[in-house]
Amino acid sequence: MSALPSTQKAVALPAKRTPLIEISTPVHPPTTGEVVIHVQWTASSPLDLHRSDGGLLIPSYPALQGSGGVVGTVVAVGSGGDLKGLQIGDHVSAFAFHGDKEANQQEYITIPAYLASKVPEGISLQAAVTVPVNLVTVFHSVTADLELELPWPIPKNWKPKEANKPILVWGASSSVGIFAIQVLRHWGYTNVLAVSSNQHHEYLKNLGATVCFDYRKPDVVNNILDYLEDVEEPKVPYILDCIGSLNGTLEPLAKIAQRGSRVAVMLPVIIKDASEEEEPVYEMDVSKCLPGKWANGAIVRGVRTHFYLQNEFFKEKLQPEILPALLAQGIIKPNNQRIVEGATLVERAQNALTLLRSKAVSGEKLVYRVSEA
Ligand SMILES: NC(=O)c1ccc[n+]([C@@H]2O[C@H](COP(=O)([O-])OP(=O)(O)OC[C@H]3O[C@@H](n4cnc5c(N)ncnc54)[C@H](OP(=O)(O)O)[C@@H]3O)[C@@H](O)[C@H]2O)c1
Repeated sequence: MSALPSTQKAVALPAKRTPLIEISTPVHPPTTGEVVIHVQWTASSPLDLHRSDGGLLIPSYPALQGSGGVVGTVVAVGSGGDLKGLQIGDHVSAFAFHGDKEANQQEYITIPAYLASKVPEGISLQAAVTVPVNLVTVFHSVTADLELELPWPIPKNWKPKEANKPILVWGASSSVGIFAIQVLRHWGYTNVLAVSSNQHHEYLKNLGATVCFDYRKPDVVNNILDYLEDVEEPKVPYILDCIGSLNGTLEPLAKIAQRGSRVAVMLPVIIKDASEEEEPVYEMDVSKCLPGKWANGAIVRGVRTHFYLQNEFFKEKLQPEILPALLAQGIIKPNNQRIVEGATLVERAQNALTLLRSKAVSGEKLVYRVSEA
């Protein structure tokens, strides 16, 4: 094992709504069951913006940044423990979210091996980095919040009980939505209704959406209900809100959900968007959103993927085994990538925040280099 440096460059937020800065942080040697990754690329996640502009989930400042996943090379492994077969030199992606030594916008991160996935042959690192955060989000929200089955491995001749029930994916062109469509179709859910802007409909149908609706049309709710005219109630038993916007998604969804519908909403609920001029407003308790507007008996849940490790099976298998297998077999295609440029890591991270704030991301993932080599 070549010696690790003792310190490294990291991106930090000095206070809410202030420019990012570069700081020096320690490189943590691996303990039992841990690996150290030399980070080559990170992806940008809307949570980066929720944190920088809204202070979401930040206990103290300066706060290390980075919640969008990483890809890089294993450069050190701990002695003993379950290293999931990882070795020095392996290329891995990781959804690591506990901050500090796991914060994604720094040159080296130290994480338990169960948070890493080997990158299969033939998948570029910049493509692989688009996958872990939101593919894990889909497995977690579909199983824990919608309570639909995604068995692994899929038993021979297995078919989901709810195979033909309508599942509405609102925000289907988001990174979460694109993975949701692919996962649901692969596991045999055949009635997936996708809501996005018109420009992505063909792409989403190619990925497996049964039918697409344009949320920018004022009559989108009626279009969906008309399509389901002859379907028994609840017409849409499963709804995945991949956006979580009070006016943009929860309001229309409250008109669609009926008694018995299950609605899983990506948190935070965005009450007011981040902008250059104003601070955003977020709500982490979905029961406080639109009280009295949901049908009696509709089950509305807020998704918190940071709790996915409570599922022991997913903790051990999801990133180490399931994710690489799905990518290697071409079942899951990475998101399209937009590379964010900048002379330094801080500049690239700042430019990515500007793009997120201006809502420039559509059907793609922002990715950028962390370490140059
Ligand atoms: N709590 C959790 O566990 C968790 C996990 C992952 C993500 N999230 C949250 O989920 C949200 C989405 O994350 P992401 O990375 O998937 O976002 P993203 O890819 O950056 O989302 C961009 C997409 O949102 C779509 N969109 C925006 N407003 C919409 C609306 N009103 N209706 C339908 N589509 C709309 C746009 O669609 P068009 O281009 O088609 O207009 C665009 O393609 C973020 O707020 C994130 O923080 C939460």
